[in-house]
Amino acid sequence: MWSIWAVTLIVIVAVLIKRLRSPLTALPGPLITSITSLWIKYQEFSANRRLCIHELHRKYGPVVRLSPNEVSFTSLEAIKEIYASGGSGYDRTELYSLFAQFGQKQDDVFDLGQRKRCFADRYSLTNIMRKDSMASIQENTAAFVRKCMDTSGTSVDVYVLLHCYALDCVTHFMFSPGGTHSLTKSKDFELMEELTYHNSLQKNLLAHYLPGLEPYFPTFLLPRLSPKSNQYVLDKVEEGLSADEYTLVRRLLSKDNGLHNIQVAAECKDHMAAGIDTTGDGLCFLMWELSQPHNRHVQERLHLEVKQVPADASLEDLPYLDAVVKEALRLAPPIPMSFPRYVPKGGRIIDGYHIPEGTIVSCQPYSVHRLNEKVFPYPDTFWPERWLEPDGANDRNRLFFAFSTGARGCTGKNLALVEMKILLRDVYSRFKTDVAPDMHGSMDIDDQIISARPKDQTCRLVFTPYE
Ligand code: HEM
Repeated sequence: MWSIWAVTLIVIVAVLIKRLRSPLTALPGPLITSITSLWIKYQEFSANRRLCIHELHRKYGPVVRLSPNEVSFTSLEAIKEIYASGGSGYDRTELYSLFAQFGQKQDDVFDLGQRKRCFADRYSLTNIMRKDSMASIQENTAAFVRKCMDTSGTSVDVYVLLHCYALDCVTHFMFSPGGTHSLTKSKDFELMEELTYHNSLQKNLLAHYLPGLEPYFPTFLLPRLSPKSNQYVLDKVEEGLSADEYTLVRRLLSKDNGLHNIQVAAECKDHMAAGIDTTGDGLCFLMWELSQPHNRHVQERLHLEVKQVPADASLEDLPYLDAVVKEALRLAPPIPMSFPRYVPKGGRIIDGYHIPEGTIVSCQPYSVHRLNEKVFPYPDTFWPERWLEPDGANDRNRLFFAFSTGARGCTGKNLALVEMKILLRDVYSRFKTDVAPDMHGSMDIDDQIISARPKDQTCRLVFTPYE
């Protein structure tokens, strides 16, 4: 018996010595993080990782150790090194396998170079701005506006409608004319519900941290599946060759990619999931912010800008709208948490520290956008005008991290921005919005795996038409 205790003690002491002698021990951070990763995992499970890291950065500065093998950064130098060195930055960690669809890991579907080539023309602004592609975004905006008009002074839950809007836009972009109409059709509405309303954070993390044990988990511990959306995607891929020329599915099915239908489906489902909550939540936080009484002047300035341009004017002619969108994504980035990467072979110098190979490193937009106060003064204030100042514009744009950066940055950035701007233009040229008296839910940012959403998943606003 004593020998078991002695061996256990020796192992613990050996591990402690090894950890305390690791180069990461010299990094700023609380002592507990140089001994165990359980502390940061606990924060993750209790949906407190983002705020906990933020507080650590406040206390210790731009470089902070999170565990014996993990470090977080907030500087522009670190962003460039981790996410853009060599073009695509460092490799992603296994956390991303949680986003695998139909059992296909993204990088097994096709490699980064192939993916970049394939998506470059699809998600280019030129393809998105094509007449037929824009027509479908405009149809969806019109359906959204009709819903707001129909309310005659009562409140509208824009959280629901914006997620429908994002789903309808992204599915049209992928499968037109086979996109969904969840704003008007109840069967399609069910797809939005299935993809948006779930509580899977802890279940997904369990599956991630205990992968070998997942087959033995009882059903209530398994992440929820999305059978209706899966079937929808599989059907659309089957019909894919008859989709419009500009769609994603047509490009993926083209012979030169050599992909099987299940691989095309995995890629489409990934983009569908990536394009709903992000755009929906981003718009929701934005409209909530604009509807606050202290932001009335922002809404009025936006109204003045968007009402005086013709319907077919270029979005580039709307600088204040651009500033409003960027400021909302700065203050409430829909993916506010760390994007974890592995330090490559041989280790790297990041922000002046030597970080050994295999260490997990990351930056989180929530902190990058708030803790670089020279670039973003009054960081907690919603202040779109900051984006119109010529002074410091380069620094602001370089530190704008809502879509990440480098070859692994957001594929759908152009689509997301066009969807957001068209909707805001068409809403705020016609309506004022206010927080509804019957809005009792919390709009606090609630962490998911790497994304976040409004805590109570509701946002009731009142729409008042301009005379
Ligand atoms: C406001 C809306 C959006 C935001 C803030 C956003 C943000 C991001 C971020 C930060 C990443 C990188 C995550 C990481 O490195 O871990 C990402 C990746 C991605 N996004 Fe978005 N996104 C948005 C909308 C969209 C839309 C509309 C689509 C497509 C229809 C899309 C498709 C993707 C895809 C496919 C990836 C993965 C890229 C890869 O694997 O290399 N996103 N997005």
